[in-house]
Amino acid sequence: MNDQTLPAQKQWIAILDYGSQYTQLIARRIREREVYSEIIRCDTTAADLAAHPPAGVILSGGPNSVFEEGAPTVDPAIFEMGVPVLGICYGMQLMSQTLGGKVVPGAEREYGKMPIEVMPGNPLFDGIPSTITAWMSHGDRVEAIPANFERGAVSATCPFAAMFDNAKRLYALQFHPEVVHTQYGTDILANFVFKVCGCTRSWKLTTWVEDTVARLREQIGEDEVVLGLSGGVDSSVVAVLLNKAIGRRLHCIFVDNGLLRYREAEQVEEMFKKNLGLDLTVVHAEQRFYDALKGLDEPEAKRKAIGKNFIDVFAEEARRFRHCRYLGQGTIYPDVIESRSPRKGPSQTIKSHHNVGGLPDDLKFELVEPLRELFKDEVRAVGRVMGMADELLDRQPFPGPGLGVRILGEVTREKVELLQQADVRVQEEIRKLPDYKTIWQTFAVLLPCRSVGVMGDQRTYEYTCAIRSVNSIDAMTADWTRIPYDVLARMSNRIINEVRGINRVVYDISSKPPATIEWE
Ligand code: XMP
Repeated sequence: MNDQTLPAQKQWIAILDYGSQYTQLIARRIREREVYSEIIRCDTTAADLAAHPPAGVILSGGPNSVFEEGAPTVDPAIFEMGVPVLGICYGMQLMSQTLGGKVVPGAEREYGKMPIEVMPGNPLFDGIPSTITAWMSHGDRVEAIPANFERGAVSATCPFAAMFDNAKRLYALQFHPEVVHTQYGTDILANFVFKVCGCTRSWKLTTWVEDTVARLREQIGEDEVVLGLSGGVDSSVVAVLLNKAIGRRLHCIFVDNGLLRYREAEQVEEMFKKNLGLDLTVVHAEQRFYDALKGLDEPEAKRKAIGKNFIDVFAEEARRFRHCRYLGQGTIYPDVIESRSPRKGPSQTIKSHHNVGGLPDDLKFELVEPLRELFKDEVRAVGRVMGMADELLDRQPFPGPGLGVRILGEVTREKVELLQQADVRVQEEIRKLPDYKTIWQTFAVLLPCRSVGVMGDQRTYEYTCAIRSVNSIDAMTADWTRIPYDVLARMSNRIINEVRGINRVVYDISSKPPATIEWE
């Protein structure tokens, strides 16, 4: 048995992850149809699944070729469990190879939209026209299908663009039904989930909140929980959920590291302590962070100093709750998947992120992570179901090291105040845009250089501020936002006229990669 925890949901679809960039989309598409699905490791065996048998299994796509040495395989017993299986792309090749079909290496990769013709008799294609456009992305292809299988679809380059064995309820697609470029793709997945696996719509966020609160009460019993509240969406939603479950036995700690946005600590205190009645401790540790940052101008050194001090401050506070058994965390689904990925190779550290995972050994908490099965937008939806304010739920991401990575070079209290003043003006102006919510992030950066300007008759020699705004889906790539000139002009005028100490504003027009979203 591998080390993952399988869901206790009565009805669920297991998605074995072979590493495709689209695996998470499969999970999304199924949940959108109100059926619970979970991505699990591709080395999960039929025996592992037996404890909580899924209603269906999906083998995802993946970057490997079945011919590569060490390429991930599938436990053949999964095809004998009597549970329907759907193989997608690499999943189809694996199914074919495992069950005696023939896979051949492709001379070149087939990538893009292709017309395919679907055959009758395959329930996955019920209600779907006989010719559709499908999204292909594969090198190898199935040349001969296993015994008892039938051809499910054909394309110009793929003799078997789909295959199926109705008796054993095994299905496979060479194309990706989960991507929007495949016509009727979500209907094909829905046919698998409802018609083949017999699922019913049973996954709703309102019931999820009730179930989760009940489960948390049961898990925590009479014990208490410490939670690091950052003011971000995830930890805020966890706080409200836990507050519903155990009320004042939840103790929240918010560390003011002196690198927050303008009035942020006050706002968090007002929202959670005054409005929601949470037991919240705001730890004022500004000076400690400024001391730790003194003389540091190298980005990684700054990040590490901030991370270390954050853990130290949090640990000092958490010691007050020594009799508490639990530590709450805002871990969400993509975080879980990243750490579970089957082929997570050694990757280069671009920037050191931190969370409260590095607590000292003498602090022994068990983790409570009620959001670990949700996607970010599901977390927001849970917040809404619980009546949390939009202004809190729609907050843009804010890096753990805060303004520390937006003040280039050495950080001082004066520079933090300067940047806070510039940033609040950027925020006020960008929020006036009707499509503000579609923008991933917009913020100000303080550059470590000064330049000459003129104010009235006076020469000035002051700092430069950069405005950064990006559109992104997942922060892995990003493009700079085409902010209207008049909005940029208002931001610039307001910063230069209203913030003493900045006399020049520039707009950052770099995309990620090769730049990153934050400057440090
Ligand atoms: P980069 O700068 O790497 O940022 O392109 C990608 C996204 O991550 C956020 N970010 C962080 N978030 N702790 C966090 O929780 C961090 O240390 C951190 N550094 C960057 C950044 O704001 C962007 O949304």
